[in-house]
Amino acid sequence: MRTQVAIIGAGPSGLLLGQLLHKAGIANIVIERQSGDYVLGRIRAGVLEQVTMDLLAQAGVAERALAEGLPHDGIELLFAGQRHRIDLHGLSGGKRVTVYGQTEVTRDLMEARAAAGLTTVYQAADVQLHDFDGSNPTVSYTQGGQRHALQCDFIAGCDGYHGISRQSVPAAALRTYEKVYPFGWLGVLADVPPVSHELIYANTERGFALCSMRSESRSRYYVQCSMDEQVENWSDEAFWNELRARLDPQAAERLITGPSLEKSIAPLRSFVAEPMRFGRLFLAGDAAHIVPPTGAKGLNLAASDVGYLWRGLAEYYGEKSSVGIDRYSDTCLRRVWKAERFSWWFTSLMHRFPDNGPFGQKIQEAELDYLVRSQAASTSLAENYVGLPVEW
Ligand code: APR
Ligand code: PHB
Repeated sequence: MRTQVAIIGAGPSGLLLGQLLHKAGIANIVIERQSGDYVLGRIRAGVLEQVTMDLLAQAGVAERALAEGLPHDGIELLFAGQRHRIDLHGLSGGKRVTVYGQTEVTRDLMEARAAAGLTTVYQAADVQLHDFDGSNPTVSYTQGGQRHALQCDFIAGCDGYHGISRQSVPAAALRTYEKVYPFGWLGVLADVPPVSHELIYANTERGFALCSMRSESRSRYYVQCSMDEQVENWSDEAFWNELRARLDPQAAERLITGPSLEKSIAPLRSFVAEPMRFGRLFLAGDAAHIVPPTGAKGLNLAASDVGYLWRGLAEYYGEKSSVGIDRYSDTCLRRVWKAERFSWWFTSLMHRFPDNGPFGQKIQEAELDYLVRSQAASTSLAENYVGLPVEW
């Protein structure tokens, strides 16, 4: 088998890249370890920057996100018992975000891929990458008890943090940076109307809480928890009680509860691997970097990597120019590190850390008070939240 670009991983990065390359007339095959249903079962964040929406449109898959996604012009910060609105739209020169679940983005991409008749190999076991330091890379995998080899011009490693692509690079060629936070997020998805029409990020003495949503009738809520906790020990009732205790009185009263559709604990981590290119292998999305979810930058960063890679590869095949792919790693990393900084800062500001103590809590509240009262500080939050510019 032969293709132009072999894409490892059918998460949002791999599927978006596949769709964009297809539109540019570049053949690609996606190789995924899991089944399609398994991939769709993962619940992730749901805030899309305009850059991400534009890429979905260029890939021809923005229709449902535009029709069903909720445009948001602001967020609320809750601290010292009071909510304060940040006017994202007014402070960012007219930008906004779209609330639309990553699961739905993935579903739209899968459907578009199937409709275009493009090949996705699901349940591919023991995927291996070969010869990407030369000019004839190959990807091998086992499916249905048989070993297959896929020859290609380039490999796109879109296989997430635990994927094989980054692990295939010699350790000496890679520099990694990591920070693990001493807590997790306990998340619940439920078919109840959201407590507020905008997202609420809460800093409380009991820990962080986030009120988010998927639609007018489906809510996504999180509370900061210890990483030692077991999700089985959290009944729905215990979750709702803890969330309510972290809200201001008005929101606590408005909170509508119901049975959870999904409940899970996610760890929080910052991670970057440099560079993002090795010969004919490119890393994109979670394969190259992880951000903690505060600020919802994970999917948006994955999308901007893919945007750069798609443009670089289109230039390579269309204009026989390597300029875009040669710049890929440096260009991506400039935006990656800024999103890493923002996610780390927002996480540090909003969570209770074991060694914070009452002094740390007061310092956080002072910074939050400054943030909502200073136009300069609010503007900085807004421009990062709606998404920093891309260089294309
Ligand atoms: N071979 C093939 N596929 C693999 C392998 C492997 N060895 N290892 C992992 N995969 C697949 C996973 O099963 C998954 O479907 O790669 C895909 C990677 O998808 P994601 O983890 O969703 O990563 P990405 O597409 O970069 O999406 C980034 O998703 O993880 C969130 O917060 C993150 O929102 C961000 C976005
Ligand atoms: C979510 O809706 O799951 C979500 C929203 C915003 C975040 C993180 C997660 O910052």
